[in-house]
Amino acid sequence: QSVCAGTENKLSSLSDLEQQYRALRKYYENCEVVMGNLEITSIEHNRDLSFLRSVREVTGYVLVALNQFRYLPLENLRIIRGTKLYEDRYALAIFLNYRKDGNFGLQELGLKNLTEILNGGVYVDQNKFLCYADTIHWQDIVRNPWPSNLTLVSTNGSSGCGRCHKSCTGRCWGPTENHCQTLTRTVCAEQCDGRCYGPYVSDCCHRECAGGCSGPKDTDCFACMNFNDSGACVTQCPQTFVYNPTTFQLEHNFNAKYTYGAFCVKKCPHNFVVDSSSCVRACPSSKMEVEENGIKMCKPCTDICPKACDGIGTGSLMSAQTVDSSNIDKFINCTKINGNLIFLVTGIHGDPYNAIEAIDPEKLNVFRTVREITGFLNIQSWPPNMTDFSVFSNLVTIGGRVLYSGLSLLILKQQGITSLQFQSLKEISAGNIYITDNSNLCYYHTINWTTLFSTINQRIVIRDNRKAENCTAEGMVCNHLCSSDGCWGPGPDQCLSCRRFSRGRICIESCNLYDGEFREFENDSICVECDPQCEKMEDGLLTCHGPGPDNCTKCSHFKDGPNCVEKCPDGLQGANSFIFKYADPDRECHPCHPNCTQGCNGPTSHDCIYYPWTGHSTLPQHART
Ligand SMILES: *[C@@H]1O[C@H](CO)[C@@H](O)[C@H](O)[C@H]1NC(C)=O
Ligand SMILES: *[C@@H]1O[C@H](CO)[C@@H](O)[C@H](O)[C@H]1NC(C)=O
Ligand SMILES: *[C@@H]1O[C@H](CO)[C@@H](O)[C@H](O)[C@H]1NC(C)=O
Ligand SMILES: *[C@@H]1O[C@H](CO)[C@@H](O)[C@H](O)[C@H]1NC(C)=O
Ligand SMILES: *[C@@H]1O[C@H](CO)[C@@H](O)[C@H](O)[C@H]1NC(C)=O
Ligand SMILES: *[C@@H]1O[C@H](CO)[C@@H](O)[C@H](O)[C@H]1NC(C)=O
Ligand SMILES: *[C@@H]1O[C@H](CO)[C@@H](O)[C@H](O)[C@H]1NC(C)=O
Ligand SMILES: *[C@@H]1O[C@H](CO)[C@@H](O)[C@H](O)[C@H]1NC(C)=O
Repeated sequence: QSVCAGTENKLSSLSDLEQQYRALRKYYENCEVVMGNLEITSIEHNRDLSFLRSVREVTGYVLVALNQFRYLPLENLRIIRGTKLYEDRYALAIFLNYRKDGNFGLQELGLKNLTEILNGGVYVDQNKFLCYADTIHWQDIVRNPWPSNLTLVSTNGSSGCGRCHKSCTGRCWGPTENHCQTLTRTVCAEQCDGRCYGPYVSDCCHRECAGGCSGPKDTDCFACMNFNDSGACVTQCPQTFVYNPTTFQLEHNFNAKYTYGAFCVKKCPHNFVVDSSSCVRACPSSKMEVEENGIKMCKPCTDICPKACDGIGTGSLMSAQTVDSSNIDKFINCTKINGNLIFLVTGIHGDPYNAIEAIDPEKLNVFRTVREITGFLNIQSWPPNMTDFSVFSNLVTIGGRVLYSGLSLLILKQQGITSLQFQSLKEISAGNIYITDNSNLCYYHTINWTTLFSTINQRIVIRDNRKAENCTAEGMVCNHLCSSDGCWGPGPDQCLSCRRFSRGRICIESCNLYDGEFREFENDSICVECDPQCEKMEDGLLTCHGPGPDNCTKCSHFKDGPNCVEKCPDGLQGANSFIFKYADPDRECHPCHPNCTQGCNGPTSHDCIYYPWTGHSTLPQHART
């Protein structure tokens, strides 16, 4: 399968028409599937366009405008999917294809095989010499519901147009009997759910077909409505996970395929990554690219995706002295600072000599995403009305790979600070600590700083802050839910560890075992939420006794094997077949009889459910006709 990317230039073109033609040829020569838009604009009358014959599918729109050639040789184009539309409306737009001061212009559309436009309308106007386009039955090509205001095909053809060949019953793309329009929808029996290859009920195409077919099977389609899986049209590609009826669980499927445009592929093409089960060019912003077993995949980031940034004195901030209003935006979304963070008075309050404005204190919140500083943290200035460093609430590690006079953490003369609030800080890997002359700082003395160190020769200098007894006298003490390990500030979220239980970062008295909106179980001293499929219990009963849907006391909906589930398996893909189950009066799921291919209400073959769709993909072969 030869795939090319297409373009999105609209009507803009290169000023050099030779270049314009060469670019077109380079894009589409030997291309069968255009994953994007096919735009043919500003091509002169004498150009050879026969290379366009290779194109069979276009996923976006087709634009043909401002050209002077006589014939459009897209003879093998079968389907335009219209996933992108020209002017948000048109899947096919053909206009202004003639030369104002001459006799050249588009006369014939060679779109003989075009039988399907899945989304969007058609616009054909101001083609002075164009013939036959107004004979085409566009309703047969464009999908329902018929968008009447979305299709404009002017009858403004040249006055000298011939007629269709008499075998074409008035509808054709050109003059001969080879140019008749093939109708594949408006001629079908009412029972057909889509297209057909003849007028009878028995001539319906498979419902996964697009554009028509040569027979009733999913392998007889001209094009696929959804996905082409090695020649068969399918609703979805073989899934990454399949249901194992003996373990009642989804398991990895070794026959899985990924969707690549409208195709199922075993491997994504070079330069593509797997996002859930699709091949994509780049991961969405909430995911990061990782390689697993040689496959590049997108994985959801916890909270925020990792992003490493230069610190003060490194890379792009090599010559900076301090975080200031001119560079603070460089720290947006950073999780790791390669280098140091330094806050000096010239940054916080501004530096008139260098025309640097004071920092808006709100902006310091950019540091909330930072988890690691590889160098040192040096705070010698801070906005006067901010009483803590809670903007570093996610800071886990200070690396100390670069030191400032032997220091990796320096907090000096901050009279407004009452607590540090480094609530996530777990490690200071190297370097000494210097916290002095912060006359209002409390809580610092409750912490055993040595536990943060990685090496034995790290030193602590903490002096001339607020006296411990004065803090205690004013109630500046750790929350009663904190353990004796101390705290970074007031409140149950600033404890180094909890006296009783924890939920996330917060210390609590007890878990929500028997009440509360979300019920929990106790895992050592951590409160963990029960699975959402567990029924919320009352009257002193536990809702669950462990994680996952197999640890519920009672299911909130149905039970499949040991697991509580939203509904019984209803056409879940299994390794070799689709799995259907029914629920008994106790709301437990049981397998349908093997003969039931669309579901059931009970255990026997008499309980099978049938849907009146011809050629449903899960119907066995003999039931298809
Ligand atoms: C059009 O489709 C038919 C199959 O329906 C195929 O045989 C033919 O080669 C295609 N191309 C042209 C130019 O007719
Ligand atoms: C087409 O008509 C529908 C309803 O008649 C209207 O909502 C829609 O905006 C129209 N679209 C255009 C492109 O005019
Ligand atoms: C047809 O041609 C006339 C005159 O050239 C023009 O004004 C008009 O916009 C054209 N299109 C349609 C749809 O009539
Ligand atoms: C499906 O893809 C194969 C190539 O992988 C191609 O030969 C075949 O024509 C396609 N079938 C349909 C119905 O698009
Ligand atoms: C920061 O991350 C958010 C969410 O992921 C994203 O929307 C935003 O564009 C990012 N901003 C910058 C400057 O990277
Ligand atoms: C600190 O003061 C600035 C203005 O000087 C104000 O915008 C900001 O909201 C204040 N912050 C706090 C935490 O009070
Ligand atoms: C602090 O922690 C270190 C290492 O965990 C330990 O050796 C030391 O005794 C502790 N100091 C105090 C005062 O608890
Ligand atoms: C601490 O409190 C004592 C009295 O309780 C007071 O004399 C002293 O000035 C206070 N010191 C500081 C640094 O606030």
